[in-house]
Order: sequence, then C-alpha cells, then structure tokens
Amino acid sequence: MSLSVVATIDGMRRTLAPLRREGKVIGLVPTMGALHAGHGRLMELARRETDCVVVSVFVNPTQFNDQQDYAKYPRTLPRDVEFCQALGAELVFAPDAAEMYPQPATSFVEVAGVSERLCGEFRPGHFRGVATVVAKLFHIVQPDRAYFGEKDAQQLAVIRRMVRDLDIPVTVVGVPTVREPDGLALSSRNQRLSPEERSLAPAVYRTLQRIRSRIADGAGDPREIRQDAVAELERVPGMRVEYLEIVDPEEMRPVGRIEGPVLAAAAVWLGSTRLIDNQLCAPANASPSGRLPPEKALRRPTK
Ligand code: PAJ
Repeated sequence: MSLSVVATIDGMRRTLAPLRREGKVIGLVPTMGALHAGHGRLMELARRETDCVVVSVFVNPTQFNDQQDYAKYPRTLPRDVEFCQALGAELVFAPDAAEMYPQPATSFVEVAGVSERLCGEFRPGHFRGVATVVAKLFHIVQPDRAYFGEKDAQQLAVIRRMVRDLDIPVTVVGVPTVREPDGLALSSRNQRLSPEERSLAPAVYRTLQRIRSRIADGAGDPREIRQDAVAELERVPGMRVEYLEIVDPEEMRPVGRIEGPVLAAAAVWLGSTRLIDNQLCAPANASPSGRLPPEKALRRPTK
C-alpha cells in the first residue's frame, strides 16, 4: 500500500474501516510535524509491530498557552509527507484546525494530578489540550497501538492514565529518546537555537547524566541533588531553569527520599527557546531497566 494523505475525519474513517475489517493491526504515531529522527524512531517501531502505520500531523492550537509559540511552530508538511513515505507509513492524517475544531470546543479531557506538576505548572491548560486532541485522534483512527516518546515523559504518563481511566482500547507504547551525538534530545524546537545556543544546549543532558550517576552511587537526598544541578545549569550563559525535579515516574510527584527508580526531569530556557529532557535514575540496588514503566495491561491482541 502506498502512502495516502488524508485531511478530513470522514476520509480517515472511510479509509480505515475496510483495513480494520480485514483484521489489520493499526498503529498511530501522533505528531505536530517538523518530523525528525525522534519521530522516525516511533514510526520504525510502529512499522515493525503493526500492519498499517498512521502518522497524524497536526499543530494543535489548544495545547499552546502562548499564541506566539503556536504561530512560530515550524510547519513543513510536504517534507513531512516524504519522511513518512521513506519510513513506510501507509497514511498521513493532516487536518487543519477548522477540521479538528469546527466550533470552539466545549468538551475536554482533564487528567488531574499527573497533569498538574512539572510542565503543567508552567503551561496551564497544556495537558488538557494534549489529552483532548489525543483522545480525538484515538476516536478518529481507533488504533490498536499508539506510539509516544519518552522524551515527553509527563505527556506519556498523562496519556497512559487517560487510557486507563477511560478504558480506551489502545496499547500505549513508550519509545526511548533519540539524541544527537552530543546528547541533546532531538526536538523540533532545536531549529530555533542560534549556533552559540546549540553548542550550550547539551548541558541539560550532561547535568541529568550526572544526577543519574550520583543516584546510582547512593545519593538519596533529592533536595541536595537538585540544588547542585540547578546551580550547574544556571552557570551556562543564557540558560534559565524553569524546573528541575526528581519525581516518581508514574505520578510525577516530587519524592522526599530516593529509594527506588525516579525520574529526573528538567525544563530550561535557552534564550527564547524552551527545552525539556529527562532521565530515569535508580540507586544501584534497585532494578534500573533504564526505561519508563510499561503500560499495565494489553487490551487487544496484537500481531
Ligand atoms: P511532537 O512534539 O511532534 O512529538 C510527537 C511524538 O514524538 C511525541 O510522542 C514525542 O514524545 C516524540 N518525540 C519527540 N522528540 C523525540 C525524541 N528526541 N526521541 C523520541 N521521541 C520523540 O508531542 C507532541 O508532538 C504533541 O503533544 C502530540 C502528542 C502530537 C499531541 O498534539
């Protein structure tokens, strides 16, 4: 099957219904476009695990709390379509905002608790926008499996919780973060860094790695680790720490003492660009899989 680009919800339903009847396993990779190798890794995994890979490309206005950020978000659909084709996707769903939100929305998905911390504290309404648009995509595509990056660990936790709470019949798959050789996590926002900022950006990864080794070596006081790490990052010219927290990997709640696997998560500003990254850490005596906890139950048979 060659790649089709579909812009309407009705078109998606009409294209997918016969595939579903044939028993094809459908994989969804939700994105906002400006695709890079991080998105590519999600698609490759979907390609291996499903029969039909659907990539959605939609810059979702309701998850931006800053309208300028929404306006500035890179939009590169023709290139994105070529990228999806090269990676063997079957379908690109690329609706415009009027298709997804013909009227201002009045119904929302709110995942309390896990949405309120870290990014949620600094980007009010962001995870409500994410959860709502992902729920809509799940209803439009009805995928068997959906792929999300561990780079956005809190987003992944929010989606997992939503799927469990609302009994959505989809298996959520988390995919490890793809990085540049110097450790910087790939992100569509990296394009906005000046050459100077780009050379400083890997400090975030390095600091998270240092936290990881301190915890592996037995450091148990998150406050002390946090203070040192923030000081380290604030020494980088032009860098401002929005948050750096050591939290439990499922609920994203700050921990009082490190006794098992924790997530070190950070958001920093470098000039006018916001970067996020995280690292799973564990004391040497815990079982550090290096991965976020998997989804608890598979709900449908998969290939
Ligand atoms: P976007 O930022 O385009 O990311 C789409 C998916 O790619 C997310 O699951 C994200 O975690 C993953 N991703 C991005 N960079 C990655 C990297 N370096 N390594 C691995 N995975 C990476 O996240 C969104 O879009 C939106 O919030 C969305 C879920 C599409 C809802 O609008």
